[in-house]
Amino acid sequence: MAGKQQEEMDFGAEAERMQKRTVEGGLLITFEGGEGVGKSTQAERLFHKLQSFGIDTIHCQEPGSSDLGNNVRRWIKRSNSSSPLAETLLFEAARAQLMFETVRPALDRGKVVVLDRYIDSTLAYQGYARGGDLKTIKQLNDIATAGFNPHLTVLLDLDPKLSLARVSNEPDLFSAQDGKAATRVDDEGQRRFEEQPLKFHQNIRKGYLELSKTDPRWCVIKADQAGHRIADAILKRVRRLLIERDIPESLFKR
Ligand code: TYD
Repeated sequence: MAGKQQEEMDFGAEAERMQKRTVEGGLLITFEGGEGVGKSTQAERLFHKLQSFGIDTIHCQEPGSSDLGNNVRRWIKRSNSSSPLAETLLFEAARAQLMFETVRPALDRGKVVVLDRYIDSTLAYQGYARGGDLKTIKQLNDIATAGFNPHLTVLLDLDPKLSLARVSNEPDLFSAQDGKAATRVDDEGQRRFEEQPLKFHQNIRKGYLELSKTDPRWCVIKADQAGHRIADAILKRVRRLLIERDIPESLFKR
């Protein structure tokens, strides 16, 4: 074969390898859990792993990943609103923007979207923990997302006594029922939900566990294991979903 022809063939094979794989209709994978369960680390890990397999993937977080979302994020960390409905509406506005601007277009192009928090965060936090009406929150979730449910929801489950100790400098404060959880201050200022009493966090967990029983899209993983074990369990489940959607198994052997 002539050298030039061979070169073109090599280049073609290389281009094919470089071309990212997409999935018909896209795939929405959400991560949920209470404070300090390691959810964001795992979401990021999955994103990088899928990218390394050559699968076209994006990574977003709620609230955030849009101008409106970033403002809601700043607000939520500073403000002390007393209305769960007002809080819900803000999260839903940010969610509607993220869906419109980023998530839906990405799914339409066949991408995998790894999303750190979604509709179930509002049910767990503003519903189960803050006492907002679950039916209303479900309706608002449906409005904000046009009823778009995730294909897979990974719930990292951990007793809040352990998870809060992870994110706090003063774990002793959690032992009292109505004692305040210790404050962790990050570069965005004080983290408001982490300052809530232990009961608040127990209600979040209870809510998530209840929700996880209602739909097969949930994958509940105990978060008190080594990070690499959690990552492996998540990847196993995601691989299965991708193979079902015609992503060749050989891609994961890289
Ligand atoms: P963040 O720093 O992202 O917390 P985490 O790392 O635990 O995700 O802050 C987001 C906070 O917003 C978090 O405490 C959960 C809360 N939240 C709600 O209360 N309702 C919602 O619908 C969403 C998306 C987040």
